[in-house]
Amino acid sequence: MKRGKFIVFEGIDGSGKTTHAALLKKRLEEMGERVFMTAEPSEGEAGKLLRRCLKREIELSEEAIAGLFMTDRLDHIKNPTDGILSHLEKGETVLCDRYYFSSFAYNGSYAPLDWVKAINALPRALLRPDLTLFMDIPPESFLSRIEKRSEKERYEKLEVLKRVRENYFAAFEAFPDEKVTVIDNTAPLDLAAENVYLAVKPLFEAR
Ligand code: TMP
Repeated sequence: MKRGKFIVFEGIDGSGKTTHAALLKKRLEEMGERVFMTAEPSEGEAGKLLRRCLKREIELSEEAIAGLFMTDRLDHIKNPTDGILSHLEKGETVLCDRYYFSSFAYNGSYAPLDWVKAINALPRALLRPDLTLFMDIPPESFLSRIEKRSEKERYEKLEVLKRVRENYFAAFEAFPDEKVTVIDNTAPLDLAAENVYLAVKPLFEAR
């Protein structure tokens, strides 16, 4: 059995990752591929804890949050019942909404970036994506979704998203051996979806 392909979607908040992952799943299934969709934070126990941190129900240090994302990732990769590797070994294509580049871009803003990179050497040694698709939008376009918030909150959110987007590009440069394709997601939906498909197509032709 040939191992499946591991494809990751990355992007700032509101960049359309989830929509495009679903469209790609449909297209690959029409080609006869078996596809498993997943996301980080995962549905596992560490992932549940992270969702509570993100909702500010519990308070952890930025370092602990970065460590928890890494722990969740290790479990997401290796979990014997539903881990990514178990799906890849069954020959399924795995589409994952966020992976370690999210840690570099987001957690690297709050905890020391070198440290975030160092702890993510563990999951990186276990499983690298066959392709990372970065769904690119200008951070300003996210603001239309949060119209109800105050000017101050909108400004702060914009500054965070600008920094996260810059961090993504810095991380892509810092890891030149990673296969990354940037998709302009300001393009109409059909065109962006076609560009996603064209980027992943060679992975399936090589089989
Ligand atoms: P999402 O539902 O848009 O994917 O949101 C998940 C949030 O978690 C998003 O704000 C980014 C954040 N995150 C990190 O900070 N580090 C990580 O490693 C991952 C996977 C997500």
